Amino acid sequence: MGTMVAELVMTAGVVEISETRDVPIPALRALYDTAAWARDRTSAQLRTLLHRSDVFLTAWDGDVLVGSARVLTDFTVRALICDVVVDPAYQGEGIGRTLVEAVETHPALRDVEQLCLFTTKKRDFYAHLGWEEHPVQGMVKSRR
Ligand SMILES: CC(C)(COP(=O)(O)OP(=O)(O)OC[C@H]1O[C@@H](n2cnc3c(N)ncnc32)[C@H](O)[C@@H]1OP(=O)(O)O)[C@@H](O)C(=O)NCCC(=O)NCCS
Repeated sequence: MGTMVAELVMTAGVVEISETRDVPIPALRALYDTAAWARDRTSAQLRTLLHRSDVFLTAWDGDVLVGSARVLTDFTVRALICDVVVDPAYQGEGIGRTLVEAVETHPALRDVEQLCLFTTKKRDFYAHLGWEEHPVQGMVKSRR
């Protein structure tokens, strides 16, 4: 986890959003396996993205990991939100909204000029949360 993070607890019903709880790799794997693009990541990749993301938020129903979102950022100009995932059994309960809003209101990200993300199928979800379509197509170089 990044160094500029403060403890952060929000709730969506009984679900608690945390930045400090230990995340077992098998639980993260099970969650990511529910999202097509995050499947097939190795345990080494999961450990690395867990520890090297600047902000890593998790949603918990008791001890069950039910959602996550993470952020890569310079803490001033740009922040890229990645891997917003809610366990299908817990979707539609406000957890996805709470995760995104926890990023938007995160104290360490308050001064960041622009939040951005990639999404193929969930544009309507983000539009519903007040996000705008970016007018310019970005470019990427995929290496896997
Ligand atoms: C997209 C996702 C994160 C949404 O999480 P969720 O917990 O089901 O969403 P919420 O219950 O917090 O919904 C918040 C609001 O968005 C709306 N919403 C949810 N999914 C939506 C969709 N696909 N299109 C439009 N609106 C949507 C809800 O109706 C709700 O509205 P309200 O707050 O005004 O009542 C979740 O469905 C998911 O993990 N999907 C699979 C992985 C994925 O595609 N992630 C996005 C990657 S970029």
